[in-house]
Amino acid sequence: MCNSSPSAAEVSDAVNFGDFYKRAKRFRLFEPSVGVLGVAVCAVIFCLFLLDYRTATKGLTRFPSQNERLLWLRIDGDGGGGRGGGGGEESSRKKKKIDFLSSGDGCDVFDGDWVWDERYPLYQSKDCRFLDEGFRCSENGRPDFFYAKWRWQPRSCNLPRFDAKIMLEKLRNKRIVFAGDSIGRNQWESLLCMLSSAVPNNDSIYEVNGNPITKHKGFLIFKFIDYNCTVEYYRAPFLVLQSRAPPNSPPRVKTTLKLDQMDWTSSKWKDADVLVFNTGHWWNYEKTVRGGCYFQEGSNVEMGMSVDSAYEKALGTVFEWINRKVNTTKTQVFFRTYAPVHFRGGDWRSGGTCHLETLPDLGSSLVPSHTWNKYNIFSRVLSSHSNLSDSKSLGVLNITHMTSRRKDGHSSLYYLGPKVGPAPLHRQDCSHWCLPGVPDAWNELLYALVLKREITGKSNSSSFHAQV
Ligand SMILES: *[C@@H]1O[C@H](CO)[C@@H](O)[C@H](O)[C@H]1NC(C)=O
Ligand SMILES: *[C@@H]1O[C@H](CO)[C@@H](O)[C@H](O)[C@H]1NC(C)=O
Ligand SMILES: *[C@@H]1O[C@H](CO)[C@@H](O)[C@H](O)[C@H]1NC(C)=O
Ligand SMILES: *[C@@H]1O[C@H](CO)[C@@H](O)[C@H](O)[C@H]1NC(C)=O
Ligand SMILES: *[C@@H]1O[C@H](CO)[C@@H](O)[C@H](O)[C@H]1NC(C)=O
Ligand SMILES: *[C@@H]1O[C@H](CO)[C@@H](O)[C@H](O)[C@H]1NC(C)=O
Repeated sequence: MCNSSPSAAEVSDAVNFGDFYKRAKRFRLFEPSVGVLGVAVCAVIFCLFLLDYRTATKGLTRFPSQNERLLWLRIDGDGGGGRGGGGGEESSRKKKKIDFLSSGDGCDVFDGDWVWDERYPLYQSKDCRFLDEGFRCSENGRPDFFYAKWRWQPRSCNLPRFDAKIMLEKLRNKRIVFAGDSIGRNQWESLLCMLSSAVPNNDSIYEVNGNPITKHKGFLIFKFIDYNCTVEYYRAPFLVLQSRAPPNSPPRVKTTLKLDQMDWTSSKWKDADVLVFNTGHWWNYEKTVRGGCYFQEGSNVEMGMSVDSAYEKALGTVFEWINRKVNTTKTQVFFRTYAPVHFRGGDWRSGGTCHLETLPDLGSSLVPSHTWNKYNIFSRVLSSHSNLSDSKSLGVLNITHMTSRRKDGHSSLYYLGPKVGPAPLHRQDCSHWCLPGVPDAWNELLYALVLKREITGKSNSSSFHAQV
């Protein structure tokens, strides 16, 4: 294992279930102020809605600039995908968007807005037993619940509303596998909750090896017995192989990442029916070189290699593995792009915070540019594997941009158990996401892409494009 100190991605593994319980008590102090702020924000939002609603229902354009500014906050409006919504003059005035599944072939589903939708969230955390304590923000004392009420609305088409029964039917006799870091685990747990909400008999879903959800190493395989399908997570934060330092390495080399070999569990992913990758949050100096974890190619340990070039090479290895080893006629492969973090005034080690964020970003995001670096490297490697990016072999869950606007969705102080209360202010988790929450939207996109692939696969097997 490379460095075992908590990092952006793993802070919930390390802190969450760990050592801050006692210390956290002192910080009860801060609870009231967070509460007061919540009420204040609540009042402001209410006013905004009222204003927006009034201007909308009167069909007035008297305050166009104001209305424009408030558009992002509108209640559903035209975004309902033919499922009701805004109503009245406002919605009939607007053009109906095309349906992504029936005709939205050219629609970039990752380009859009977050819209308020009263029908969300899709489930409640207390009804889902597949959630780590660290993701159960409202049960852990988070006072506001707005973060669970935003739906992703593509600009030029409507997504199908998530239907767990339809998804489970698609997955009948199949395996869906998530491989990556704990943000991938975040998404996997979200999908477990979304799917299990349609299964009344809770005994019919179980981990095949009897492991509890709190197991954080190796892998977990949940079976939905009525559908003979499994929803699996493999912990592989780098996707490539970590191993002991080769003999005769300098003493500071404790472990290496073999940039040209896949993680040892890759043989178990290869034949999945749906395979969802992610990586990125461990590709930093602290999680690698600083802890004596160096990069290796062939038998050479590259002492001077930068983390970014190692990341780039590792992505190349993953893409080549997909090319060589995966039967992409059987396996739908997706790569989920980097999920931005939102630490302000510091990072995960130096007291960065996000606990005062209760609303998404308007317009462009405030995410610091160095976090986009991971995304840019990914795009570059993808375009250099043009037969992957141009063909049906790899779907990109291109969530970086949309997610960058969701500074309000993180676990922040609320990753400790319900009995412990908020974490110390300087130990926030602005990497992982509250559930229900933002990863549900990633899974709704995954759902749409899986259904779309099936439709286009039937009519024209070569028309599935990486972006669509
Ligand atoms: C991802 O989505 C953004 C926003 O729509 C777009 O600008 C970018 O080109 C997309 N990237 C890929 C690799 O699809
Ligand atoms: C259950 O699904 C697996 C694939 O995950 C398949 O090999 C097996 O045949 C299925 N069993 C039945 C009874 O359909
Ligand atoms: C399943 O549901 C029953 C009744 O709601 C409950 O008593 C039981 O603890 C649940 N089982 C699990 C494994 O959560
Ligand atoms: C992509 O190209 C590589 C060689 O350049 C080839 O081995 C691989 O089969 C191709 N993959 C697809 C999906 O066409
Ligand atoms: C790939 O998968 C398809 C669909 O399951 C199957 O028909 C085909 O024989 C497989 N190809 C190889 C080379 O295994
Ligand atoms: C299938 O897709 C390919 C490439 O996207 C296109 O060239 C071809 O015309 C399509 N065929 C049909 C029947 O739609």
